[in-house]
Amino acid sequence: MVQRLTITRPDDWHLHLRDGPALAHVVAHSARQFGRAIVMPNLNPPVTRVAEAAAYRQRIQQGLHLAEQRGDLGKDAAGFEPLMTLYLTDNTPADEIRRAVESGFVYAVKLYPAGATTNSDAGVTDLLGRCRAVLEVMQELGMPLLVHGEVTDPDTDLFDREALFIDRVMLPLRRAFPALKVVFEHITTREGAHYVRDADGPVAATITAHHLLYNRNALFTGGLQPHWYCLPVLKRESHREALVEAATSGNPRFFLGTDSAPHARGAKEQACGCAGCYTALHAMALYAQAFDRAGKLEALEAFASWHGPDFYGLPRNTDTITLERAEMTVPNELPFGDDTVVPLAAGEALDWRVVG
Ligand code: DOR
Ligand code: ZN
Repeated sequence: MVQRLTITRPDDWHLHLRDGPALAHVVAHSARQFGRAIVMPNLNPPVTRVAEAAAYRQRIQQGLHLAEQRGDLGKDAAGFEPLMTLYLTDNTPADEIRRAVESGFVYAVKLYPAGATTNSDAGVTDLLGRCRAVLEVMQELGMPLLVHGEVTDPDTDLFDREALFIDRVMLPLRRAFPALKVVFEHITTREGAHYVRDADGPVAATITAHHLLYNRNALFTGGLQPHWYCLPVLKRESHREALVEAATSGNPRFFLGTDSAPHARGAKEQACGCAGCYTALHAMALYAQAFDRAGKLEALEAFASWHGPDFYGLPRNTDTITLERAEMTVPNELPFGDDTVVPLAAGEALDWRVVG
């Protein structure tokens, strides 16, 4: 049985770092494991302009600095690089994409269909109707579109939203812009995995640790479990199996994106709880657990550390991290600014931990 695993330092291609005093707490957890992270722009108000992304990037760097002063960062973590994104709206000017490319620190543009998830009210109402000029420039300049792939029509069954998105949005988008780089973020279904596996052109997908480890039973076992509630919501077991198959297949279209999305304890444990699972603290342990259970530990490095930079056209990290098979109990809560956040699987034991 493999006891230690040393792999190229991984990156997180989908991460929520939030803002304000919580930022320094959560960024430290990511920086201890990951070299870089694609930082989601769904702040309130959202990061729609390059100038806003520059200011947010600076706040992240200040957060890292503060974490370092507090002794929250491990060795090498101060080099953590936030890769910024812009939040696409119906009114994003095409010129903003040119400025984003010129900036050198904006790496992607995120599509939130209006109403799909946390802070998506300013999102896109009609992608091909409203954003053609922007998509044209993105295709021309090689700027990836990161897609929250769910239809928002309230009559659609929540569990079918991703599969329907493929037919209603993804296929027409890919027909209109076949050379546009597209990342189908946090896929949760067999349909999503198979679409990405089989599609023509530059298409990839991120997969979260929680969608690899849990199915929708986790939401309801022993009562309503708000800390397992995220969007897209966990699906049935056969979908989880399809995601594990995709992630461990060695196919370079699939790579790591935690979608770690912290909310203060009180915002989750209430009558109308927020969507998002906090996994940044123990992300690599969770992924190792999922790959180990599938008997595919040898496939973890390519998924976590190679396929993402290859798709984005960035160099792979040159240093390494080491995971050890050793029981680790997930803490019951963690500091989150003036509040606390409950990590996914709080109180449970994991088989792996990062040791260096
Ligand atoms: O569960 C989620 N939480 N899904 C998202 O798409 C957004 C995220 C958040 O920002 O809380
Ligand atoms: Zn997300």
